[in-house]
Amino acid sequence: METFDQNEVDQILSEFHLQEEDLHVLMCRMQAEMERGLHLETNEEASVKMLPTYVRSTPDGSEVGDFLALDLGGTNFRVMLVKVGEDLEGQWKVETKHKMYSIPVDAMTGTAEMLFDYIAECISDYLDQQNMKHKKLPLGFTFSFPVRHEDIDKGILLNWTKGFKASGAEGNNVVGLLRDAIKRRGDFEMDVVAMVNDTVATMISCYYEDHHCEVGLIVGTGCNACYMEEMSNVELVEGEEGRMCVNTEWGAFGDTGELEDFRLEYDRVVDEASLNPGQQLYEKMIGGKYMGELVRLVLIKMVNENLLFGGESSEKLKTRGAFETQFVSQIEADTSDFKQTLNILRTLGVQATIGDCHAVRLACESVSTRAAIMCSAGLAGILNRMRQSRREELLRITVGVDGSVYKLHPSFKDKFHATVLKLTSGCEITFIQSEEGSGRGAALISAVAYKMAVMIGH
Ligand code: GLC
Repeated sequence: METFDQNEVDQILSEFHLQEEDLHVLMCRMQAEMERGLHLETNEEASVKMLPTYVRSTPDGSEVGDFLALDLGGTNFRVMLVKVGEDLEGQWKVETKHKMYSIPVDAMTGTAEMLFDYIAECISDYLDQQNMKHKKLPLGFTFSFPVRHEDIDKGILLNWTKGFKASGAEGNNVVGLLRDAIKRRGDFEMDVVAMVNDTVATMISCYYEDHHCEVGLIVGTGCNACYMEEMSNVELVEGEEGRMCVNTEWGAFGDTGELEDFRLEYDRVVDEASLNPGQQLYEKMIGGKYMGELVRLVLIKMVNENLLFGGESSEKLKTRGAFETQFVSQIEADTSDFKQTLNILRTLGVQATIGDCHAVRLACESVSTRAAIMCSAGLAGILNRMRQSRREELLRITVGVDGSVYKLHPSFKDKFHATVLKLTSGCEITFIQSEEGSGRGAALISAVAYKMAVMIGH
């Protein structure tokens, strides 16, 4: 079969299409949840938790020197050394040397002690390599999960996301877990001064290049955003002056029913098979942890309707997780002869015609476009809220962005930007991609926190 039944394929994929009104509905619901998350009396029941980060506007200077930064939150754990300093213009200069460690599945899903012992082991290895074991460095920890902070260096993990499940961590102070593991090893010392979410680290690292950067966004394994909110609206923290960065944890949008009229059969299957069913429903429609699996389920549906691969699937294609999210990017980037697509499909054990390749690409495009558009509605919700609460005719704002889906997918970015612009009149938006944001941001905020601790004599 060299052609494919475009009509029937389109019919199946049409479910992924969102109308302009849908976007307004999504944006308004997101804003309503954000509002509920900010209020003391509704925070508990809100799906979008709006977690205060204790990262405030107007930092008054910081230390210079070496900082160690840790980054935990995706499939890898990274340790890096960051030099924070000043140049002639008083700007920040940062250099990084990093090392990546993959996290064994049993550390992700065993006990918290196992996970944090593994982290401490990696730090020890890194310090050996850098010949720095004798130094007690200040440490910044990028920990990319929902944390209810009590201060910048103290906060409890609310719940794991993105396939992590280590028992005995939820409900506990994450910095405490790290300090205990370092103590258990006893072969080096660290001064843990700050813990931040990856969205926050990204925003901070971009802020030093562009002082309009007051939003941080991650579209990678997971999906989340933070932004600078007026202190007077952050009811969970005392004080009215200035602004505080709020980690929205918008990945959980939908967990109290706000997405029910948008979720498809495929979304339900992905959710039910996950380690956290019923949770992170918005994230599961966007994040890289789930995108490939969504496509796989669509392909299976098309095979079952006899629209693909001559109605024959393969054992591999029937296996959960077999269709990797990077395949989505690779297939969509393969616009000429389908060489790459045919290769990928061959590794999945299916015999594909050119017609099949067209259909597979359409499936990938449908899933990734919906992700980009859903994500735009969320960001537009934040930006319009910021413009309103600041009572600005024109909001000039920069959004710092990181994450594999945003950076590596061939068209996610463009569709995402275009849709955000459509939904945000009165905003002049610049997007900047952060490089090494998770590490640099953690180190930069640690430098600020460290200076403050030194000033108040801790
Ligand atoms: C998940 C986490 C969140 C993180 C995001 C991106 O949504 O809960 O804390 O920012 O993934 O890594």
